[in-house]
Amino acid sequence: MRAGATRLVHLSDLHFGLERADLVQPLFEAVEAAGPDLVVVSGDLVQRARKAQFIAARRFLDRLTAPWVAVPGNHDIPLFNLAGRLLWPFAGYRRHICADLSPGRRLRDLRIFGINSAWPLSWRGGIARRADIDRLCRELTEGAKDVTNILLFHHPMQEPPGFERGETIGAEAALPRLAAAGLHVILSGHLHRFDPGLFVTRDRTRPILQVQGATALCGRAGETAHGFAILDFDGPHLVVTPCPALDGPVRFGPAPPFRYSRAEGEWRLL
Ligand SMILES: [Fe+2]
Ligand SMILES: [Fe+2]
Repeated sequence: MRAGATRLVHLSDLHFGLERADLVQPLFEAVEAAGPDLVVVSGDLVQRARKAQFIAARRFLDRLTAPWVAVPGNHDIPLFNLAGRLLWPFAGYRRHICADLSPGRRLRDLRIFGINSAWPLSWRGGIARRADIDRLCRELTEGAKDVTNILLFHHPMQEPPGFERGETIGAEAALPRLAAAGLHVILSGHLHRFDPGLFVTRDRTRPILQVQGATALCGRAGETAHGFAILDFDGPHLVVTPCPALDGPVRFGPAPPFRYSRAEGEWRLL
């Protein structure tokens, strides 16, 4: 599906500063080849919130032809600089990536809401802050009804099997409120594992489809499943195409897509 669809490229967990250098140019070329209307980045743009790392991440994003929008992750706030972590945790991110930690975009019949889930009091976990969820619910309730509403959020609101860490404080309480207010999709990262539509199967529907992003570039030992995803939205239909990194020669290439459809407020895998 492309004709008439609105195409997002979902990148996550770039981890500049600990990036796989050999994947950077292939990632750039693959995103350019996908020709998205918008690139969305769900956090952990850098490894240690250092200036040079932010500059490298920003340079990568600014090379892209498409516009981009991002939210911070837990790695985008200082870890070892305790004063910086507690007193001005987002100073580097704001200066080099985006002053707005919760940016929004309207793109044809898509509304994209970014919310910051990074939390200086937890080195790995995140938080769905009550005030942010209240504001989002208000905007969803008062906004247009014939749109697809998408939340960009670093930490997973729903944790896939094998990752039940309870790391996102407030998520359990927020989810039913967001569903009732009209949220349709969550794009998240943090787990460094791709999962196209959490808990949505042919037999099981859900009002919110969470697309869990892989890490695009992280070079940490043991990271093997690099990738990103292409999302084509067309009315109530969504096609999620994973683009994993492939070896020899290194490149990102499309894998078989997952097709979802929304009817009566519930997503189903086709
Ligand atoms: Fe990460
Ligand atoms: Fe993270």
